[in-house]
Amino acid sequence: MDQKRKDSASRSRRRFLTDSTAIIGGAVAAAAAPAGALADDKAPSNGNLPPNVPEWMKAPGADVGSQPYGTPSPFEKNVIRNIPKNQPQYTSSASRTPIQDLDGIITPNGLFYERHHGGIPEIDPAQHRLMIHGLVDKPLVLTVEDVRRFPSQSRIHFLECSGNPSYTAMKGKTASDLVGLVSCGEWTGVPLKILLQEAGIKPGAKWVIAEGADAAAMTRSIPIEKCLDDAMIVYSQNGERLRPAQGYPLRVFLPGFEGNMNIKWVRRLHITDEPVYSREETSKYTDLLPSGKARQFTFYMEAKSIITRPSGTQKIEKGFNEITGIAWSGHGKIAKVDVSVDGGKSWKAATLQEPVLTRALTRFRLPWTWDGSPVVIMSRATDETGYVQPSFEELTKPRGLNSFYHNNAIMRWQIAANGEVTNGNA
Ligand code: CO
Repeated sequence: MDQKRKDSASRSRRRFLTDSTAIIGGAVAAAAAPAGALADDKAPSNGNLPPNVPEWMKAPGADVGSQPYGTPSPFEKNVIRNIPKNQPQYTSSASRTPIQDLDGIITPNGLFYERHHGGIPEIDPAQHRLMIHGLVDKPLVLTVEDVRRFPSQSRIHFLECSGNPSYTAMKGKTASDLVGLVSCGEWTGVPLKILLQEAGIKPGAKWVIAEGADAAAMTRSIPIEKCLDDAMIVYSQNGERLRPAQGYPLRVFLPGFEGNMNIKWVRRLHITDEPVYSREETSKYTDLLPSGKARQFTFYMEAKSIITRPSGTQKIEKGFNEITGIAWSGHGKIAKVDVSVDGGKSWKAATLQEPVLTRALTRFRLPWTWDGSPVVIMSRATDETGYVQPSFEELTKPRGLNSFYHNNAIMRWQIAANGEVTNGNA
């Protein structure tokens, strides 16, 4: 470049920066672009900002072999699973997905929520078997490689703990505190019905008792209809083999059913004519009603949604803000998500991001200009069966307050005049 052109380029760069600064200060930025998008007053002045050449351009970067299994940027070190401090004991514990820090619908494997009843076993796949027995013509004992020889499927589905959140736990600060016991991934495995056909189901078979190979021998009864419908025996998640915390080397996957039924580390499928009435379907995972009776075998996770941005502990600025979040239903596809920015007085339909998949997280978005006055924002999902996510009042009117599981109430965020977002469910 000759000196003349260089001077001219540098002049127009200066003009661009000057003009940008002028725009940021004016009303145009507030209406059209997120304020601060071009401002650099928050960044440290260490010479890495335009028009300087940043230091990471001045020497070669890390060797490709420095990280055989990739990890996120060290600058994202706070995007981690949310592990509540008041766990009863470490072997019976949970960790939540930081849903407020994620985009799209797929949860990275390292951020998948967990719920364990007897710790995470370390299973050698060569020493693991899946037994299928009971009311069958031909009992089977399958190795992991045997299971992988059957015709396979990959499907994207959410997984959610039925205690997400429990009726007693709506006091958290972040979206993860409130509703972080949900994740979504691509699951690969064998349709369970193919394995059951191989074993040959006898007449009278009504339930499949699934048992995990963990220290809790986590056990649940699954209706045979689900097993012959979309249930899977899964070995991979988001393309790679299951992580130990997700049931390596084999787990049950029941799209739309409460998380604990998706038995991890599955070692046994006992085909029977009645449920086993395990601890996890009598003393736990039942829903006590005001009458004193309990709802039992409440398998489906009903339609639900939450705004993840803006959400608790975040701070917004006046002007344009995109409202975004996730919605899902155990009964099928999300048909609609409405968003209110006036505490529920009026609602506006959000845009659903494709793909909208059955029993999967669905991303929704709504453009919004905030005028700086305190507001309460919330989202309300409707699924393809026409079921509408209830308010907490609508949910608890018939079911009372003794229930612990299956709280799919609308979640509210309070935005203060200074832009700070807090839990609005109190
Ligand atoms: Co239930």
